[in-house]
Amino acid sequence: MYNSIKMTDDVYWVGVNDRETDIFESLWPLPEGISYNSYLIDDDKVALIDTVKINYNNSFLDKIKNVIGDKKVDYLIVNHMEPDHSGSIKSLCEAYPDMKIIGNQKTMNFLEGFYGITKGTKVVSDGDQIDLGTHRLTFYLTPMIHWPETMMTFDEHDQILFSGDAFGGFGSLDGFLFDDELNINFFKDEIRRYFSNIVSKYGTVVHNTINRLSKILDIKMVASTHGPVWREKTNYIISEYDRWSKQETDEGVVIVYGSMYGNTKVMAEAVARSLSENGIEEIKIFDVSRKNVSFIINDIWKYNGLIMGSCTYNNEIFPPMDYLLKSLESRNIKKRVMGIFGSYSWSGGAVDRLKDFSEKVSCCTAEPIVESKFAPDRKILEQCYELGKNVAQKVKKNNQ
Ligand code: FEO
Repeated sequence: MYNSIKMTDDVYWVGVNDRETDIFESLWPLPEGISYNSYLIDDDKVALIDTVKINYNNSFLDKIKNVIGDKKVDYLIVNHMEPDHSGSIKSLCEAYPDMKIIGNQKTMNFLEGFYGITKGTKVVSDGDQIDLGTHRLTFYLTPMIHWPETMMTFDEHDQILFSGDAFGGFGSLDGFLFDDELNINFFKDEIRRYFSNIVSKYGTVVHNTINRLSKILDIKMVASTHGPVWREKTNYIISEYDRWSKQETDEGVVIVYGSMYGNTKVMAEAVARSLSENGIEEIKIFDVSRKNVSFIINDIWKYNGLIMGSCTYNNEIFPPMDYLLKSLESRNIKKRVMGIFGSYSWSGGAVDRLKDFSEKVSCCTAEPIVESKFAPDRKILEQCYELGKNVAQKVKKNNQ
């Protein structure tokens, strides 16, 4: 027997938890799993909002049947077409052949492209509504959070914003559904990791959408496609998403290093010690070869200091560090105090790429930029100390 969870008199969570996928979208590790949330409104007309990944199709259909019995699903509202939410559309169409699929004009291109569906659809525009009986739903187009077809659906009766991926996070729902049923601190890193890796590139759009919808809607509950449903800390998650979208940060420093023989690592440790001696309490050090980039980006999104050090590889920067830099460039990272160090044996290259990066993303770079030929000697380590001290001062000043 597969259970749904009752959210209000007529609204049910009929989503699923995925603890089987190790690497979501072949990019993001899932140490804590993930949920694919779908919501059912059992009114005079029955509406389903988003579906689940195809692998969970059978349990999803069972959950729907457990709520509505022999009734039919009248509408499927597609807030987002990425396959973790659209994967069960075809089997849903087979189970409920008279069901109308509601989406915007862009949704329809994806629907045809992914699943060959061209019939039984209804195109809606921004502000359009449908009546289910007691519940009236309004659609808001929110393109590029984080795909072009994304939209949100607001239920006036229960004041629920069905927000698609926005306000979601990694992490499965382990018995709980609502924000007040779990320790949110436990979840916070996974929510920010989701935002910083998947949504952050469109931070300005997120910020503008939050501004727009919070002015026109009285939102009591936020129901995302991933993670908990927000009903007690609704303002908290909206304001955290807004802070992250504007790249507002806490005081602290992330040091990321790439090191083949240990020399750049020694420099990283010297910089970290200096940060600590100069009053920085939150310091995170990552070996870029050993930590998946999604966790590094998460902490970079959290803190206002970023110090990067790399060895040189074939006249260029160490490849794993290059991947991180490109990942940060594509997410428009900005407003960080930055420090740079690196090493080489027979030809430089790493430090130049780090300098280019810093200029490109307009981060404020602290002096000195430290470059060691071969193993760092006492003089180089003194420069590392100086770099840590200067970053600490700027980080604290920027946080005032
Ligand atoms: Fe959860 Fe953008 O899909």
